[in-house]
Amino acid sequence: MAARVPGGLTGELAGELADELNGGPSSEPSRGLSSEPGDRPSDRLSHRPAAAVRQLTRRFGDRTVLDRLDLEIAGGEFVALLGRSGSGKSTLLRALAGLDQEIDGSLTVAGSVAVAFQEPRLVPWKRVRANVALGLGGPDPLDRADTALAEVGLAERSGAWPLTLSGGEAQRASLARALVREPSLLLLDEPFSALDALTRITMHGLVLELWAAHRPAVLLVTHDVDEALLLADRVLVLDAGRVAHETVITTPRPRHRDHPDLIALRATLLAALGVSPEGTT
Ligand SMILES: Nc1ncnc2c1ncn2[C@@H]1O[C@H](COP(=O)(O)OP(=O)(O)OP(=O)(O)O)[C@@H](O)[C@H]1O
Ligand SMILES: [Mg+2]
Repeated sequence: MAARVPGGLTGELAGELADELNGGPSSEPSRGLSSEPGDRPSDRLSHRPAAAVRQLTRRFGDRTVLDRLDLEIAGGEFVALLGRSGSGKSTLLRALAGLDQEIDGSLTVAGSVAVAFQEPRLVPWKRVRANVALGLGGPDPLDRADTALAEVGLAERSGAWPLTLSGGEAQRASLARALVREPSLLLLDEPFSALDALTRITMHGLVLELWAAHRPAVLLVTHDVDEALLLADRVLVLDAGRVAHETVITTPRPRHRDHPDLIALRATLLAALGVSPEGTT
């Protein structure tokens, strides 16, 4: 389980980032956020929820973005979250990550949380290995960072500077930085949206491999219905501040996008998003 103790950091920026990566500042948990001791890998398949959200409301001024939202994510479950731009997906992720102090309602996360953002957010003046180890507590953080980098196929770039990485490599580093925290809840906010189609396919395979090996619960925000269908156990659509639609996917993995079940589910999800399969609204 990840310790929430920033260590070995220089500079405020790196410190803030370390807090974000570790699921909020170590000293002051978010209002309404309670944490329990983390799962060991052996008990991750228990039915204890990885996250439980009840009546979560978030307002910005007089705008209500999340409106008494209820959500439960089972231990080890892979959930994808779809929704129109501005529907509140990142707002929900920030709340789950303990990064938002202004929420109403209750939010319980069992164990540790790690976040990977849309942009990899690597600190440019630290080598890749040190970025992965950023804010990591416990023994031998750099060795553990190297192990995580090897897992995402980036062992050779461990000593590289972030600005020399390709987009896909930077996302791998970002994934390694989330995984090295051994989270019981992994939050991914559109992590592949800036990647080309081929790299994205490779990343899908990698995420499934890592999920199978570590079994965190995952909440993946995406705009890509096919990505959701290929990866998730359950797909949610956020609308008007709540989970407005839910689709459970039982098709075995690895999945092919042309599987008849997925074709049917795609049409259902597009309808839930208010989009016809031809792309007109
Ligand atoms: N700090 C803030 N102050 C004011 N409004 C905010 C703030 N953060 C988010 N919002 C507003 O809340 C709404 C939801 O934002 P959010 O980033 O959660 O959307 P999203 O579903 O992630 O969208 P996208 O798919 O474009 O990333 C938006 O209208 C946004 O402008
Ligand atoms: Mg967003």
